[in-house]
Amino acid sequence: MKTPNTHPYVIAPSILSADFTRLGAEVTSVIEAGADWIHFDVMDNHYVPNLSFGPMICQAIKPLAKTSTGVDVPIDVHLMVQPVDAIAQSFALAGANLISFHPDASGHVHRSLQVIQNAGCQCGLVFNPAEPLDVLDWVIEELDLILIMSVNPGFGGQSFIDSALRKIEAVKRRIESSGKAIRLEVDGGIKPENIKAAANAGADTFVAGSAIFGQSDYKAVMKKFRDALGK
Ligand code: DX5
Ligand code: ZN
Repeated sequence: MKTPNTHPYVIAPSILSADFTRLGAEVTSVIEAGADWIHFDVMDNHYVPNLSFGPMICQAIKPLAKTSTGVDVPIDVHLMVQPVDAIAQSFALAGANLISFHPDASGHVHRSLQVIQNAGCQCGLVFNPAEPLDVLDWVIEELDLILIMSVNPGFGGQSFIDSALRKIEAVKRRIESSGKAIRLEVDGGIKPENIKAAANAGADTFVAGSAIFGQSDYKAVMKKFRDALGK
């Protein structure tokens, strides 16, 4: 059964590329520039070869994750950690709205999804460039979000891996046949020059780190993204 893509496009700047000497101001500025979500990359130097930030930082920025009119801006936590369950619960307590994890980082994927749901957050799975989609056969009904990595996880500023477009198309077909309104997010190497191709493949949620935080004018680059999407 085909479900029309009713999702408005979402742009989720990744604060991994933000200026950490002024993280609060960066969150406020990028929201003022029109960010829909804040993408929060959690890395443990075990599942990925980098170490980023934990629940305390999420808790610290949570009060800032609001628009000027006081509307909450969702914090989209991307766990690149192993194991998953305990830290997912900590992020739920720290104010995460959505929590996604890599299925190959959990010994019990369905249980980890239940942990996130029971903690009151939306849940998602994240697929690395070479990771098969088979697990979706058994858990797609549980998901609010599917995140396709278009880079290998661990660092910002990498180049987009083109095979992600085929993977997005394959996931889009699975979402349509599930009949569920699941967001389809793409993450890694997203620029104004390639975002439309990702949208045409079926993505509706876009993570961008270095393409935004590397620029001097966040409003201008967010406009470039929106213009490129044609919405
Ligand atoms: C990589 C992270 C991405 C990254 C995106 O492991 O999951 O979210 O920060 O940064 P750019 O947009 O610079 O590739
Ligand atoms: Zn990410």
